[in-house]
Amino acid sequence: MAQIIGGYFTSHVPGIGAAIARDQQQEAYWRPFFDGLIPVRQWLSVQQPDVAVVFYNDHGLNFFLDKLPTFAVGAAASYANADEGWGLPVQPAFRGFPELSWHIIESLVEAEFDITLCQQMNVDHAVVVPFQLAYPQAKAWPLRIVPIAINTVQHPLPSAKRCLALGRAVGKALRSWQGSERILVMGTGGLSHQLEGERAGYINNAYDLFCLDNIKDNPGALTHHSTVDLVELAGTQGVEILNWIAARGALGDGPLRQQSRNYHIPISNTAAATLVLEPLGN
Ligand code: DHB
Ligand code: FE
Repeated sequence: MAQIIGGYFTSHVPGIGAAIARDQQQEAYWRPFFDGLIPVRQWLSVQQPDVAVVFYNDHGLNFFLDKLPTFAVGAAASYANADEGWGLPVQPAFRGFPELSWHIIESLVEAEFDITLCQQMNVDHAVVVPFQLAYPQAKAWPLRIVPIAINTVQHPLPSAKRCLALGRAVGKALRSWQGSERILVMGTGGLSHQLEGERAGYINNAYDLFCLDNIKDNPGALTHHSTVDLVELAGTQGVEILNWIAARGALGDGPLRQQSRNYHIPISNTAAATLVLEPLGN
């Protein structure tokens, strides 16, 4: 039987990719963030996941404002990276897992989620940067992926409650998958940040800590805010917390252990966080 080994949540700021390209991880500005990845890498080297289900948001590479699905599930055999405008080095393509993708898609549609299925999909920094952080020495990615894109860009956004429900439905699909894979769940983006307008640079330490403190045992607490509240609380791009909420849902209702947690302000315009949650039974 497949096993969900846990959840890896992290910010996906493109500047992190630039810092890696320039080998700046040990510089005073970057080190407090990169140090938070050390326990994540150790955990992954023990856990050896075969596949990652990645909740993230596309930033105009694969979807643009002309067509923007609320929830999109990848069902491709491979996912290419490309530069969506940040000038980051293009990373190797990811191997997909179409059989697992279709299983998730069928389960979600059965559960009445009207998702978009994508047999062709490119992935941007929101997928690539978290893997660069997790597998810094990798020449090729050591696991396959199923990307699930949530619209955090063009309002109306899906509610936090709906994202948690989506994640729970994905988790149910994963638990009914008959393969023997070790499955990692990922949520990328956040925490609070706003890149434009009068509040550019806005960070909300209190809201971030509320999320980090509650997401493990009380994820429902994160669903009481409307998407307008989320913009107010987390900033226009801090709404990427929706990806974390969905990923948390996929971990199910059983007890979790916090394997590691790091929070550091600022990385670029963002309150940067990394968190690993592991099912207690593992
Ligand atoms: C930044 C953060 C993001 O989540 C993103 O997608 C792009 C830029 C930033 O803080 O620079
Ligand atoms: Fe982002």
